[in-house]
Amino acid sequence: MKVKKTIVLLPGDGIGPEVTRAAATVLRECAQEFHHEFDLHEFPIGGAAIDAIGTPLPNETLDACSKADAVFLGAVGGAKWDSLPVGKRPESGLLGLRKGMGLYVNVRPVKVLEPLRGISPLKPERLGDLDIEIVRELAGGMYFGERGNTTENGVERAWDTESYSTPEIERIATFAYGRAENRSRRLCSVDKANVLMSSQLWRRTVVAMSGVYSSVKLEHMYVDNAAMQLTLKPSQFDVMLTSNMFGDILSDAAAALVGSIGLIPSASFGTGAPLFEPIHGSAPSLVGTDSANPVGSILSVTLMLRDAFGLSLEADWVEQSLHRVLGGGYRTADIAQPGASTIGGSVFTEMLREEMQRTLEHAERYGWGV
Ligand code: NAD
Ligand code: IPM
Ligand code: MN
Repeated sequence: MKVKKTIVLLPGDGIGPEVTRAAATVLRECAQEFHHEFDLHEFPIGGAAIDAIGTPLPNETLDACSKADAVFLGAVGGAKWDSLPVGKRPESGLLGLRKGMGLYVNVRPVKVLEPLRGISPLKPERLGDLDIEIVRELAGGMYFGERGNTTENGVERAWDTESYSTPEIERIATFAYGRAENRSRRLCSVDKANVLMSSQLWRRTVVAMSGVYSSVKLEHMYVDNAAMQLTLKPSQFDVMLTSNMFGDILSDAAAALVGSIGLIPSASFGTGAPLFEPIHGSAPSLVGTDSANPVGSILSVTLMLRDAFGLSLEADWVEQSLHRVLGGGYRTADIAQPGASTIGGSVFTEMLREEMQRTLEHAERYGWGV
């Protein structure tokens, strides 16, 4: 079925514009081949918006995102804006966007891509069939708690507060239980309930809900152990549910297991339009080298196609084509075997576009589903 969607693109800073171009290429190709209408509109965010308009989240940007069917974000941040205070930095633009769009769920799927099995820093027997979803709370916790700083007797003090209410925990846990029900029905809630009161409430709330989801095997783990277990035996996990702060840290650690942070996509959901973004940052040292890996960005588009628009066939088509390009040995520098030749991110995207066309021709010729 033909669909018509309005998509806002927020390229941002550093490698953000490069990986956003890859996302836009895949969206345009998809619209053309499947006769959908995707209206792509670009708006400034982060450092680019500070430079152009004087604020990291201009009103027009938030307005456009709120009215869109889906939003794609590249990355924000960079040394140029690092001396700005919290609240005025590029990163505050992203946090304001998440809050302003009512996004409280962030799902980060971390999965071994078969052609890339060999690049994991883990031995194959430890890596196993790593396929997890980190469900990160996105609208609360320390990121949005009370904060401040004072100077008393010449001594400076600053604080950020980790705070969660029962409804905030219930809504993210509801999402995570639902995901677990549709996967292998194992949910690991990660907290620091041996130390933090907010974590004790987190754990009590998740336990209180377990009766409703009786098919899901619930487990709890302290965050320090979870970080270690991810490295020792990541395949023990299916869905991991955790707070904003812990989810940020654990997802970068998990990304390393499959070879590069440049491979991992994410989807954020809430009360309005969903947001899709790779989990990496603006990677300042890669700017101008065309070596940013666009895969996390491209997989964020497949999440958009599948989860925001219900276009599973199209998402499968992109993913299968991507696997073929990787299977052909084409790699950006971050995912290349030592000594192997590499290609730039823009060349990789062009190879994917060509492969997507070949896959479709093949499917049409032989009457297969893609
Ligand atoms: P980063 O994710 O930008 O980079 C971490 C490491 O991963 C670097 O070595 C980088 O070169 C590499 N890397 C990241 N993305 C890659 C890709 N697509 N392909 C290949 N290699 C990749 O994190 P950082 O260095 O801690 O932060 C840099 C800036 O990005 C900071 O300003 C930070 O606040 C910001 N940041 C933004 C986001 C976001 O916009 N969602 C996320 C994380 C960090
Ligand atoms: C991420 C980033 C952001 C976060 C920053 C840039 C605000 O690290 O998306 O993982 O901490 O959520
Ligand atoms: Mn992060």
